[in-house]
Amino acid sequence: MAVPYEALAVDYDALLGDHAFARLRRAFERIERHHGLVFRSAADVGCGTGTFVSYLRDRGVHPVWGVDRSPHMLAEALAKNRGNGARFLLQDLRALRLPHRVALLTCQFDTLNYLLAPPDLRTALAAFADALEPEGHAVFDMITQGGEYGGRVRRVRIVRRGPHGTSYETHAQRSYAPAEIAAALAGSGLRLSGAHRVDEPRPEAGSTRMIFLARRAPPRP
Ligand SMILES: C[S@@+](CC[C@H](N)C(=O)[O-])C[C@H]1O[C@@H](n2cnc3c(N)ncnc32)[C@H](O)[C@@H]1O
Repeated sequence: MAVPYEALAVDYDALLGDHAFARLRRAFERIERHHGLVFRSAADVGCGTGTFVSYLRDRGVHPVWGVDRSPHMLAEALAKNRGNGARFLLQDLRALRLPHRVALLTCQFDTLNYLLAPPDLRTALAAFADALEPEGHAVFDMITQGGEYGGRVRRVRIVRRGPHGTSYETHAQRSYAPAEIAAALAGSGLRLSGAHRVDEPRPEAGSTRMIFLARRAPPRP
């Protein structure tokens, strides 16, 4: 049994990442315009194959950090960003430690749904707040599910047939109810400034992907 993204990494862009990027970019740029975001430095957490990192570098953002816990996804990200000055860290986002604080932190395409328990979401959001400059912004999306379905864990088994045999990996993701996200934000050091629905071509019954903008809360006087 392979770990998540071990076998999928090489085909991730063709199967999922390239389509998702077009939608995520549109949603991000809408938020950026709507809220007048300005940033010179950034980290993309759960960066996967580094497409959003590459987009930020193409826009002249520097420095840009890409962070992921999968060495297989990071290998793809490194190849994609070779020579563009982006830097990568192999880390679990719940224990995020950047060498410098950044003005913008992004975490996209259901990365936070890999956290299967609300306390982990709270830990992650607090780590995001610590990684931000004063007044810095976090933009993150999540699959949300209302009512009784908040908290549902969905497991998807991915089968890859390659020249050296068949590999299997299981991806477990939890949908969060809006109230759980609000509870995780409370006391995390982030303050919510916007929540927008992301239009999906084929949403799962009862689920909505939301993109959130949160700002690092000023220290208490
Ligand atoms: C669906 S992919 C999204 C990748 C990228 N953000 C994109 O938009 O294509 C989820 C990514 O989150 C990473 N990930 C999941 N849980 C993580 C954790 N606890 N810490 C760091 N990375 C994590 C996975 O390794 C994977 O690369």
